[in-house]
Amino acid sequence: MECNMTGWYRTLLALAGGALLVACGGRDEPVAQAELSLAGEVLEATSLEAVDSASLLSARGAADALGKGLMTALLGQLEAEGPDGALAFCADSAQLLTARYQADGIDVHRTSLKVRNPANAPDTVEVRVLDLLADLHESGVLPPEYVEVRRLATGTRELRYFRPITVAAGCVTCHGPADNIAPSIRSVLAERYPEDMAVGYAEGDLRGVIAVRRALPE
Ligand code: HEC
Repeated sequence: MECNMTGWYRTLLALAGGALLVACGGRDEPVAQAELSLAGEVLEATSLEAVDSASLLSARGAADALGKGLMTALLGQLEAEGPDGALAFCADSAQLLTARYQADGIDVHRTSLKVRNPANAPDTVEVRVLDLLADLHESGVLPPEYVEVRRLATGTRELRYFRPITVAAGCVTCHGPADNIAPSIRSVLAERYPEDMAVGYAEGDLRGVIAVRRALPE
């Protein structure tokens, strides 16, 4: 019995030691780690080099596909049917298009600190990263992409890949200051998105991110 207890205790210590090592070892900013660990999750790395190239490529591919797919479709609609038609496209198809890329265990969506559609709302990790990217954008050093490698409570290693989205001239048609948005668009927005927060933007602002999430090999 005593022997068993000791063995059990030793195993626990070893596990805790391992976890502590994972939690504190070899990071760029050890002080911030406590804040960054979330419900048993541990941030292992924030550098692109920490991600195997196949996983990184697949995350980039998903972000490209969603970004370009939405943009091409939106611009096509804008040209063919003007802002009102494009708005109908956005409302009906953006969610469907997003779902289409959620294959192969890769989750990709657009999110923001100020969402138009509550279905695009950020999770805890995304809120923190959006805050971080907003600070970097303000300092004029917004990176083209940002990653976090997280160890989940389940033991799985997970990649969080982020591609910042900035506001282009055409975006303010629907995301600019509310007073400048055409009444026809404003009324559709009010009807479809009663909780719309995604207005008031100017060209060059950080609008949000394309966020990709996938499991990583060990
Ligand atoms: C024709 C109107 C229209 C234009 C132009 C437009 N958007 Fe949107 N945008 C929308 C609508 C509608 C949604 C909500 C889509 C949904 O339901 O997912 C949206 C959602 C988004 C989201 C997802 C987060 C959220 O707020 O729900 C991002 C990011 C975004 N737009 C960025 C842009 C950018 C960047 C541009 C310019 C390149 C742009 N939009 C141009 C109408 C527009």
